[in-house]
Amino acid sequence: MEPDGILLLRALTMPADANPNGDVFGGWIMARLDEAGAVLAYEMCRGRVVTVAVGPIEFGNPVKVGDAVCVYGRCVHIGRTSIAFKLQLWTRRNCEEWTRRVMVTETVITYVAVNDEGKKRPLPEYLEANREEILSRGYME
Ligand SMILES: CC(C)(COP(=O)(O)OP(=O)(O)OC[C@H]1O[C@@H](n2cnc3c(N)ncnc32)[C@H](O)[C@@H]1OP(=O)(O)O)[C@@H](O)C(=O)NCCC(=O)NCCS
Repeated sequence: MEPDGILLLRALTMPADANPNGDVFGGWIMARLDEAGAVLAYEMCRGRVVTVAVGPIEFGNPVKVGDAVCVYGRCVHIGRTSIAFKLQLWTRRNCEEWTRRVMVTETVITYVAVNDEGKKRPLPEYLEANREEILSRGYME
């Protein structure tokens, strides 16, 4: 299995990101997913966005301190004021026994484009005009 979508974020996990057991805290991973999706949402919505909904999140593999993690994403829904991305977080373990890249989790996060007052605004017209291509490629600026 290969990562799905474009590379949005790379990060090295640090001791400060660990839970009391010594593995990376699940909340840190969830924050990276939202952060990566927000980067894509800001670009594609050409301005301010807020997170409105996050899909279920299951952790299939642990993330260890010292792992390099990557978040990949693709656009899966274009609404009137909302846009949704499938986001995957993968890790590559920095040790001899396990250098494979493994998927830790994936989810769908929905963002709403908002104006300066924080009220929803219509998505830019190019998104609707290029809907098929965007959903097929996963991305367009
Ligand atoms: C997001 C927000 C602006 C929506 O305002 P609203 O006037 O209530 O808007 P609506 O209920 O019409 O929803 C707007 C869009 O979000 C979608 N949406 C709302 N709730 C959703 C959910 N649970 N899952 C998926 N999409 C959802 C709607 O379908 C609609 O999409 P569309 O216009 O593309 O059809 C408002 O709820 C808000 O400010 N929420 C707080 C956001 C926030 O602080 N996030 C965390 C920090 S970033």
